[in-house]
Order: sequence, then C-alpha cells, then structure tokens
Amino acid sequence: MTPEIEFRCTETRDLEPLRQLYVDAFPDEDLFPLVSSLLGGTAPVTSLVAVSGGALAGHVIFTRCTVEPGDFGVALLGPLCVTPELQQSGIGSALVRSGFDHLKTAVGCVFVLGDPKYYARFGFKPDHLVETPCPIPSEWKDAWQSVRLDDGSTVITGRLIVPDAWNDPSLWSD
Ligand SMILES: CC(C)(COP(=O)(O)OP(=O)(O)OC[C@H]1O[C@@H](n2cnc3c(N)ncnc32)[C@H](O)[C@@H]1OP(=O)(O)O)[C@@H](O)C(=O)NCCC(=O)NCCS
Repeated sequence: MTPEIEFRCTETRDLEPLRQLYVDAFPDEDLFPLVSSLLGGTAPVTSLVAVSGGALAGHVIFTRCTVEPGDFGVALLGPLCVTPELQQSGIGSALVRSGFDHLKTAVGCVFVLGDPKYYARFGFKPDHLVETPCPIPSEWKDAWQSVRLDDGSTVITGRLIVPDAWNDPSLWSD
C-alpha cells in the first residue's frame, strides 16, 4: 500500500470525480446512475473514497438493507472500484475493510454479488439462505456471498429487501 492514500467518507464535491472514476473503472458498464441514486436517496449508505494526490483513486458503497421476514439489519456491498492505474495495490481491500469498520456496530452481515476469488479474502462465503432481490443467473449462485460482522448467532434466512435503486433486474444479471 502506498502511504499517501487517504480514506474518507464521500462528500458532495466527490460526485463529478466519481462519474469519471466509474467510466475509467467500468468501461463496459455504466454504474454511475446507481451510485448517484444511492448517494442522493433516503436509504442509509456508507460511502468511502480513496484519495491519491488530490484525485479519487477508489470508491465503495454499502447500502443498508433488511432481510425479511425478521427485519434483520444488513448491508449490501457494491459497487467497488479502483482507478485502473492504481489497481492491485491494496486500495480495494482497504476500502472494503474500512467499510466493515464503519458498519460493524450497525449491521450483523454484509452481502455482495461478486467474484468469490476476490471476496473470499474478506471472509465472504456463498450464501444459499438469503434470496437476492432480483433473479441471478444460476451459474452465478456462488457469487452471491455474505460475511458476518457479528457473532453469527442468529441464522439469517429470507429475502434481501433493497431500496429502489437496487431493484433493477439488469444489475443482477448480464
Ligand atoms: C476489483 C477491484 C475493486 C479490486 O481492487 P484492487 O485495489 O485492484 O485490489 P486489491 O489490491 O485490494 O487486491 C488485489 C488482489 O485481488 C485480486 N483481484 C483483483 N481484481 C480481481 C477480480 N476481478 N477477480 C478476482 N481477483 C481479483 C488480485 O489478483 C490480487 O490478488 P492477490 O492479493 O492474491 O495478489 C479493482 O480491480 C477494480 O476496480 N476493478 C474494476 C471494477 C470491478 O471489477 N469491480 C468489482 C466489484 S463491482
């Protein structure tokens, strides 16, 4: 990890730089409308940026959600991105771990739909007890993962209830 990276919560001035960061990190997919909608919405989010030399180097957002029935408080991780020239230097991992630190007193479990080869390093494991808000392709079933931030004593089972911005089937398939 290069020492000059600063990690902090997202601020209003970050919105336009975030647009460019998402264009650079996801050249084939436009995830900025999702990010913008989450940042401007009413559901609580934990949104963190990495800053290098005054420019945004990475971003992660965690959306607070519930699992019903039971109303268990959880978070959904994503999107996560790092500017291409600074990838593979620990920034993505630091953003995820920093998010866990922010969330651990508020939520007991974090969900993600992503590559298990990347997310396993944070303790994520395939979750077959909680349904995704929209259908995912069957070949992605192990990409739907969760990690407990609490002691895991309550079994979480049901369906993830997300704010409207996440209720778009195209975000869950492709
Ligand atoms: C995926 C991403 C966020 C990882 O962040 P990063 O800062 O580059 O990754 P880190 O430095 O924290 O971790 C590097 C490790 O992750 C692995 N890794 C990185 N991207 C990966 C991917 N898409 N799939 C599997 N492993 C991946 C690297 O091989 C490396 O492994 P090692 O530690 O065993 O050597 C970043 O590469 C990125 O923004 N990619 C484009 C956007 C994207 O695909 N986001 C995915 C989530 S929506």
